[in-house]
This record gives sequence, structure tokens and C-alpha cells, in this order.
Amino acid sequence: MIAIDIKNLNKSYENGLKALKNINLSVRSGEIFALLGPNGAGKSTLINIICGISKKTSGKVTIFGKDNILDYKFTRSKIGLVPQEIATDSFEKVINTLKFSRGLFNKVPSDEYLSFILKSLNLVTKKNNQIRTLSGGMKRRVMIAKALSHEPKILFLDEPTAGVDVNLRKTLWNFLNKLKKNGVTIFLTTHYIEEAENIADRIGIINNGEILITENKKKLIEKLGEKKIIITINSSHNKLSYITKKYQLKKNKNKLSYIYNSKKNIDLSASLLSDLVKSSVKIDDIEIEKSNLEEIFLNMVEK
Ligand SMILES: Nc1ncnc2c1ncn2[C@@H]1O[C@H](COP(=O)(O)OP(=O)(O)O)[C@@H](O)[C@H]1O
Ligand SMILES: [Mg+2]
Repeated sequence: MIAIDIKNLNKSYENGLKALKNINLSVRSGEIFALLGPNGAGKSTLINIICGISKKTSGKVTIFGKDNILDYKFTRSKIGLVPQEIATDSFEKVINTLKFSRGLFNKVPSDEYLSFILKSLNLVTKKNNQIRTLSGGMKRRVMIAKALSHEPKILFLDEPTAGVDVNLRKTLWNFLNKLKKNGVTIFLTTHYIEEAENIADRIGIINNGEILITENKKKLIEKLGEKKIIITINSSHNKLSYITKKYQLKKNKNKLSYIYNSKKNIDLSASLLSDLVKSSVKIDDIEIEKSNLEEIFLNMVEK
């Protein structure tokens, strides 16, 4: 089932800035989708339009098949949003905020569900505290609890771990996985590559209002990632210069490196190894280095 479907979406701000350019994107129910992009790429604009709190210029957004504007009441009830900027000065107690927020969506009260959320986010001991008295990390967790208070089917998180310490980041990642197991679809934006690499099933890369690629995380790394074979040799050999030339190896002291794309040149890398063995060059070590998402990302956005 498709949870979020975006077709030919455009957004121009009043000053003429084109923040989103013909976005087409679908997110399946039950997946964790990470939208990765540098500051100013259009991530918040996109999330805010999907959630119906910012106006699109043209295009169509549907949530579980229903138009996010024509069927706002339905679509909003399916959505929880944790905005990038967190509200921090509330005198309200944590638990009351959650109850109130749940009530806004006409959900019957459920102490059991709210307890589950508070427990999962490590907020049980803070439930009777005023929000303004909490630390930044706790406030952020309260915002997440609030977004979940009406049991949404899709949770949007706009840069959930910006400025958050490593511990909380990991706690949050675990919690998002738990939500996913409970059938919640997760759409998050991030400029931390590490975050996308750690928790996303699928990744979209956005830059200057354009989606450059959307792909299954593993496939993305496989498809675009280069790999490097590094061969440490123990002896020189007269055949070596021939091999170096044939395979365009880079030589650095006793290390030879060969860069290949996991799909394209795999046969050549096998024949390189076989040539080396035949030449009786002594090999001390063979290592394979995979490129990570960071290199892929930088390659894409710097073009
Ligand atoms: N209200 C606004 N008016 C005009 N330009 C805006 C407004 N909000 C955002 N922008 C611009 O739109 C672009 C995308 O912003 P944003 O969606 O916030 O990016 P991101 O969340 O990826 O950092 C940026 O160039 C930003 O300056
Ligand atoms: Mg943003």
C-alpha cells in the first residue's frame, strides 16, 4: 500500500524562490524513508506541504489515497508531525499536553497508550513536569510523544536529531524501529548522512528543490558506490609495470589500488587478481574498501 504519493509538486515562495521543482515521490506503508539534503534544499518545505501546513503552488499530494487538502480531516488524522522548530515555553504539564493533543483528534482517552509512548521515550518521570522546565532533549522527546498522541499511521520528523547528543540519537533510532514494527510509516528529513545510513529503508536525496534520486539504501550504496581493491605486494617484479598499466592501477609504495564499480568492472577485477597470481608477484594482503553514503552524497550534490 502507498502511504504518501506526491505528483508533480511545485512550490514557489512569494519572493519568487522556487523551493520545490516537480517533485515525484511515493512512500510505501511501513517503510522508513529518509529525505537527505543540505540546508536550504527544500526538506522542510516538502514536509510542511505534505502535512498541509504550507501551501503548494501546483501538484498533488495524497495520503493513503486521499487528497491532503480536499480530505484534510482524514489525512491529518493519519499524520503525526514533529516540526523542525520545537515549541519550548509551555506551562502545560507533559501528560496534559498529550491528553489534549489526543483529544483534538477525537480519539477516546487511553492512559495505556500514552503510558506506552512516555515509557518508550523515557519520559515517565517527567510526565507531571511543566514542559518549559525540561531540557532541550526532553522537550524534543515530548514533541515526538505529542505527535504520536493520536496514534497516527505516518510519523513525520523534520530533522529530529539536529543538535541532539549521540545517546538520545540512538534511543530515538531504536524507538523509530519499534514504531515501524507496530506498522507506523516514518518519513524523516536529515542532513546527517549517518542517520540515513543507520535507519532508513529507502533514501531520497534532495538538492536545490530537486530530488536527485530515490533508492533502497542498500541498492543506492551498491549502485553508486565505488569499491576499491587495495593489494599490498611484497616484492617487485618485472611484470608489475605491465599489469599496472593494463588495469590502470594506482601505486603508492607497496600498495596497488584498483577502483571498480560493483556492477561494471567486476570481471576485470577478477582477471587482475588472476594476472597477479600468475605473475608470481608476492601478495601480502588484499583489502576491499566500500564507499559509503557520504561519498555518494557529496558526489551528487557537488555536481
Ligand atoms: N517562508 C519562506 N519564504 C521564502 N523563502 C523561504 C521560506 N521558507 C523557506 N524558504 C527558502 O526555501 C528554500 C528551502 O528551504 P527549506 O525547505 O527550509 O530547506 P531545508 O529544510 O532543506 O533546510 C531555502 O532557500 C529557504 O531559504
Ligand atoms: Mg529544514
